Order: sequence, then C-alpha cells, then structure tokens
Amino acid sequence: MTRTFLPVLLDEATQPFRAAGRFAYHYARGKLGGDPIFRELLRRGLLPTQGSMLDLGCGQGSLFAWLLAARRLYEQGHYPADWAPPPQPQRLRGVELMKKDVDRAAQAFGVEHPVVRVEQGDMNQTDFGHPDAITILDALHYFDHAQQAQVLRRIHDALPPGGLFLTRVGDASAGLPFHISNWVDHVATFGRGHRLPRLYCRSLAEWTALLTQTGFEVNHSPMSEGRPFANVMLVCRVPV
Ligand SMILES: C[S@@+](CC[C@H](N)C(=O)[O-])C[C@H]1O[C@@H](n2cnc3c(N)ncnc32)[C@H](O)[C@@H]1O
Repeated sequence: MTRTFLPVLLDEATQPFRAAGRFAYHYARGKLGGDPIFRELLRRGLLPTQGSMLDLGCGQGSLFAWLLAARRLYEQGHYPADWAPPPQPQRLRGVELMKKDVDRAAQAFGVEHPVVRVEQGDMNQTDFGHPDAITILDALHYFDHAQQAQVLRRIHDALPPGGLFLTRVGDASAGLPFHISNWVDHVATFGRGHRLPRLYCRSLAEWTALLTQTGFEVNHSPMSEGRPFANVMLVCRVPV
C-alpha cells in the first residue's frame, strides 16, 4: 500500500500551496516527495499523537501541510496499516526568519487556520512557549556554534519530561557527501530568493556530544536515502 499511498499523500499535502504560487507549489512537491524524512516521521510514528508542536525554521510550512494531509487521509480510512496513526495536533506553530516564506505559508493555510500558525521570527530570540515537541529540519547550521548551544538549551528547557526534540543536521565528518549537501543547500537557499548563508557545521559526534551535555537522550539515524548527502536525523528526548 505504501507505494500507492505516497503519491496520494503528496497530492493532498501540496494542494494548499497552489494558492501560494507556482514556486511554493513545486518547492513543496520536490521537498515532500523527494526527502525521506517526511515519510519516515510518519512511518516510524516519531511525533506525539496529540498536543502542540513547534517547528523552528519552518520555511513555508511544508511539514505542517504533510501532517495535516496524513491525518485527513487516515480519518478517511486511507492509510498504510503498518504505519503508526499520524499525529492529530491541537496546535502547529512555525517560526521562520524569512518574510517571503511566512507569506507563502499565510497564502497556503490562510491567516485564520484553526491549527496552523506561521510567524516571522528569529529562533534565537523567539519565546518557544511550552510545546510537546519541537522540530528543526536543516536550519541549525545557519547560525554560529554559541547560538546553536543556546537554542538547544532553550529547547530543552521549554519541553516537558519525555518531550521530543527532532532535528536533522549534516555530518561534517562525512567527506564528499557532506560537501555535496552544503552545495545543494546553497543552491536551494538561493533558489528560494535568499542570500547565500555562511554555514556552521559539526560532525555527528560533536552534535551528539552537545545534545547529550544539554541534557537530551539522543538517537540518530541516517536520513539522506537515495541521495549523496550526509544528513542525519537526531531524535532527542528530555529524560522522564
Ligand atoms: C533549509 S530551510 C528548511 C525549511 C524547512 N524546515 C523545510 O524542511 O522545508 C532552513 C530554514 O531555516 C530558516 N532559518 C534560518 N535561520 C533561522 C533563524 N535564526 N530563525 C528562524 N528561521 C531560520 C531559513 O530562512 C529557512 O527557511
């Protein structure tokens, strides 16, 4: 079923971005259809089934559209039987630095969406509140090492015992795949209409050590399937 389900899920999840223009729609299709982390989040049932979620550096909110579409299909009885039920979040809050992306999200979800809110802000300054889970997909490397440590500390302190922090980073010790990842990152950032950023990277061992020192229990798995990248998903929990 998974093979026939994924194209249906992709259509359902990307439909809202038609209202945000051709770029937003095709970006969402490429991202959600080509990046294994979105499928794996659902298949492995990594996100909490209820509660509130905060996505930092959320871009145009592609992850939220994906989760909402998965839930709709699940409720219609069209969902792989061997996948965990998808989350039914009460609140999906996104924080994104770039106004262009926040505007695309507003066009896709509308400004009065009952669950989704995407706001413009810098995760180094925004109050995180107290969500049940926090995600950062491919954004931690845009600010320096001291700021990374501070954001991770604030995330840890914002989460409840057992709370989830899920992120994806590049492994700077991975050689050529890591350099390809950074090159693609630059091209994609430029393509989305932003300036080329300086990147602040760490090896997987350094990320794991930092997260552990911050107080998380950390598990990691490769997350670049089918692509020559060095992406790693880190699933971090606040100990109970
Ligand atoms: C590679 S994109 C990934 C977007 C989104 N997470 C996704 O998976 O589609 C990284 C995003 O992080 C945002 N970003 C970078 N630094 C940020 C900061 N300090 N606060 C909030 N967002 C930030 C960028 O503007 C960009 O949209």
